[in-house]
Amino acid sequence: MKEIWIATKNRGKMIEFETLLKAPDVTLHSVVELNTYTAPPETGATFEDNARIKAKSLKAMKPGCWILADDSGLEVPGINNMPGVHSARYAGPKASDPENVAKLLKMIGLRSADKRQAQFKCVIVGYKPTGEEFVVTGEVKGEISRIVKGKDGFGYDPVFIPDGQTQTFAELGVTEKNKMSHRAQAIRKLLPILENT
Ligand code: IMP
Repeated sequence: MKEIWIATKNRGKMIEFETLLKAPDVTLHSVVELNTYTAPPETGATFEDNARIKAKSLKAMKPGCWILADDSGLEVPGINNMPGVHSARYAGPKASDPENVAKLLKMIGLRSADKRQAQFKCVIVGYKPTGEEFVVTGEVKGEISRIVKGKDGFGYDPVFIPDGQTQTFAELGVTEKNKMSHRAQAIRKLLPILENT
């Protein structure tokens, strides 16, 4: 049995990990189970830096376990690749998902209303029970819709239309999102690492 600890309190992310890493010999745990866990400040300049900060802080609490930490976000080239590593807190330190989305639509409207191309990126830094580190990544390109559409998912899902689709991730729903998302691509790259260890 592989006990895997995931350094996230984000329920939306956790649901995607649970769906994509489902296997008879895998049990997933989130840090919400740990009363003493405090998320470290995400002071890194890149998704990988921040994923490593989160993974290391959880490894210190759970040595000898499988550890995974995802850092992810949305980049919009038309507004200097923002919100990027600031995606979770774009509209302020305690901003809600709808507040972040509202700020995104406002900034695109102000700066580049016609340049709506965007990409979601995901970097997962993990540790094997031996302490060996591994890194996997995923990316999905798309565009930002003009209005909020759909109810599923989290974060910027209601405004992100992946290339080749006409609906947002929030309209497509988690099963369709998991066929193409940045996180799904990264998680699929974990499978051989888990199977061959
Ligand atoms: P993190 O928890 O610091 O990695 O922040 C990730 C943030 O990026 C989330 O809070 C969302 O705002 C955004 N984000 C990352 N992945 C997704 C996704 O799959 N859908 C929508 N928003 C996402």
